[in-house]
Amino acid sequence: MGGMFRGEGAAAALALAIVLAWAPAAAAGPSQAAGLERVRQTLVAPPFVPEHTQVADGPPRVIQVRLVIQEKRLTVGPDGATVWAMRYNGTVPGPLIVAHQGDYVEVTLVNPRANTLVHNVDFHAATGGLGGGALTHVAPGQESVLRFKATRAGVFVYHCAPGGAMIPWHVVSGMNGAILVLPRDGLKDAAGRPVRYDRAYYIGEQDFYLPRGEDGRFTDYPSPVAEMGDMLNVMRALTPTHVVFNGAVGALTGTHALPAKVGERVLILHAQANRDSRPHLIGGHGDLVWPGGAFAGPPLTDQETWFVPGGSAVAALYRFRQPGVYAYVTHNLIEAALLGATAQFKVEGAWDDDLMEQVQAPRPIP
Ligand code: CU
Ligand code: CU
Repeated sequence: MGGMFRGEGAAAALALAIVLAWAPAAAAGPSQAAGLERVRQTLVAPPFVPEHTQVADGPPRVIQVRLVIQEKRLTVGPDGATVWAMRYNGTVPGPLIVAHQGDYVEVTLVNPRANTLVHNVDFHAATGGLGGGALTHVAPGQESVLRFKATRAGVFVYHCAPGGAMIPWHVVSGMNGAILVLPRDGLKDAAGRPVRYDRAYYIGEQDFYLPRGEDGRFTDYPSPVAEMGDMLNVMRALTPTHVVFNGAVGALTGTHALPAKVGERVLILHAQANRDSRPHLIGGHGDLVWPGGAFAGPPLTDQETWFVPGGSAVAALYRFRQPGVYAYVTHNLIEAALLGATAQFKVEGAWDDDLMEQVQAPRPIP
């Protein structure tokens, strides 16, 4: 590949992926999805999750979802930074899809005529060449339908992957989301006992690499393509200008803090499609954390900070014991405090002095 242009390498990879995707079809027979019940899932904007049952209430189904791609400027921070965000269903991150292990997910990917770029979708939850990426390429004005079987239980990222430099550019322009594939009999704790959550929130972490002009100000561009070259230059330094939750600095703080109550078990799904992260709930813990987002094995318990390898989504469960406003950060505190990676939980309930008490308020040293 050394002598190839980037585009040629991508084309070769794409051709190979198509071969890989087609080859097994000749040997393995038709999809078993044909006779199954079909249900349309109504997707919702993050940090919220679609209506679902934690335990499957019937045999496997075909879950139909629709992802409409949008290219639109998004304000990322109070510092005037904007980006030509590429989004599934208009949000960064794209919406969470929920299925149970053994279900089929049937995705209609729509690239409206008003867009300017070719897009696709690669599901880490799927099995087959490029996670469906090679089978879903859509130019503006096109749509495609992909069906895949959710064979593994866990939380998985999906993202755009149109080839070459387009892949990271689209992903760090917001084009990523996640799917939650629950075990059919629901989640289990470290001892193998059923565990249920009272609420679930989906936090998509996004690193942005936004170009500045010579005056130090973030630049506005008339189109995604106009922005691309300068953004790639910022990306090559691997130093994000912003690391945010839910698409913008402050999107999940203050009046947008995530509500919960003392005693509630909250499932926190944290996705990062491009870069490592280390979530930490200040003043709380990861009661249960499923490393790598995989539900097949037992969860870790009593975690102070957990790891989200770039290109994955991880599930953590915490039962709140105290009221108050909790900051939820990536515990690179520079990213949390200076680049934007802070969310908040606003928890109502009664304070437990046994767990924490201010024995003496600040006063002059006697
Ligand atoms: Cu894309
Ligand atoms: Cu990927």
